Amino acid sequence: MSVLSGKNILLGVTAGIAAYKTTYLVRLFIKAGANVQVIMTPASKDFVTPLTLSTLSKNPVHSTFYDKEDENEQWNSHVDFGLWADIMLIAPATANTLSKMANGICDNLLMATYLSAKSKVYFAPAMDLDMYKHKTTHQNIKKLQSFDNIFIPPSSGELASGLEGEGRMAEPEDIVTFIENDIISRLSLKDKKVLITAGPTYEAIDPVRFIGNHSSGKMGFALAHHAAELGAEVTLITGPSNENIINSSIKRIDIVSAENMYNAAHQYFNDSDIVIFAAAVADYTPKVIATQKMKKKDTSLSIELQPTKDILASVGKIKKDQFLVGFALETNDELKNAISKLKRKNLDLIVLNSLQDKGAGFKTDTNKITLIDKNENITSFELKSKTEVAQDIFNEITKKINV
Ligand code: CTP
Repeated sequence: MSVLSGKNILLGVTAGIAAYKTTYLVRLFIKAGANVQVIMTPASKDFVTPLTLSTLSKNPVHSTFYDKEDENEQWNSHVDFGLWADIMLIAPATANTLSKMANGICDNLLMATYLSAKSKVYFAPAMDLDMYKHKTTHQNIKKLQSFDNIFIPPSSGELASGLEGEGRMAEPEDIVTFIENDIISRLSLKDKKVLITAGPTYEAIDPVRFIGNHSSGKMGFALAHHAAELGAEVTLITGPSNENIINSSIKRIDIVSAENMYNAAHQYFNDSDIVIFAAAVADYTPKVIATQKMKKKDTSLSIELQPTKDILASVGKIKKDQFLVGFALETNDELKNAISKLKRKNLDLIVLNSLQDKGAGFKTDTNKITLIDKNENITSFELKSKTEVAQDIFNEITKKINV
């Protein structure tokens, strides 16, 4: 799967003959699973039609702040486009546009959007030989690089003028590969293997009954998805959960009982760099599992339970270089209990959920966490979506593994 899958790509097209190649570019982005919106400079419409680009991108194409002719037309907000984009690409970027970008001139929708964009901005220059060779072009490219804009070098070959040399816009396939490789090279967990446990465990009583808990797996799945987005190779060991994997690069291992989870976790632990135990593992399991469905009786029923293995504590004992993270769900003496779990299980970080906090814990889409590291530094966060909580947890982990 491409790293561009699910990304919002804003393509800015300017007035060069290479604009015709943006039709291929848009197709490649769409094929990679990205969402694409196109903004054109007014003059670029002489080289490729907005209709072609809107059909291919499946979105309206804009080139002005509003259309004077159309009374139903709405204001096209450069700020909204800038906020929407995960990636902005200006291709082809003419000498004129490079100069405007370098000097903060915003006399059209594209340039106003460029100045508003919060995302990474890539630019792929295209112009004729001597324009590209001109010192001012080189100065502008350097200046844009100093703004952290990313230069996609042009290639050499025959130019529209018939001259031979540097100045041709990089080929669409090469632009896509360039951006993919650049994103991968910046991913903070690109060479890391991450192991995550999630969901409940079910402890069988007989062939049709079990002891379980209300864990939905949402937090563990959010962690797995975020780790994959950061470039990690992720293994997710999950108890029964209705959650789905949306990133095909995550290896999902379905288990049922605490014993299954113990075996799977030990199979992957040694080969992992970061290990996060978000599962709500049963602490007890029936000593004997009835082989036949148990019949109802008029008398009371006792089922003898025995403790399950503490999986987190068991990997804490054998850990070498792994960064080990546990969760603590507490109802009282939260900090004290969490710190004691952190020490007892030999963790690097513990994520504390308090059931006293509204919106935290099982089944909800939100969580409110406090992170405690092994030096007992405490950081508390607001109530957030589990996706944002996963980001906060990985921000903390990446800070700690990179010091
Ligand atoms: N955990 C585990 N194996 C178990 C029990 C818990 O791996 N058999 C992990 C959980 O995934 C979590 C952490 O240990 O990361 C803490 O789980 P929690 O249920 O809060 O703690 P317990 O150690 O079970 O302590 P208690 O239930 O007494 O609070």
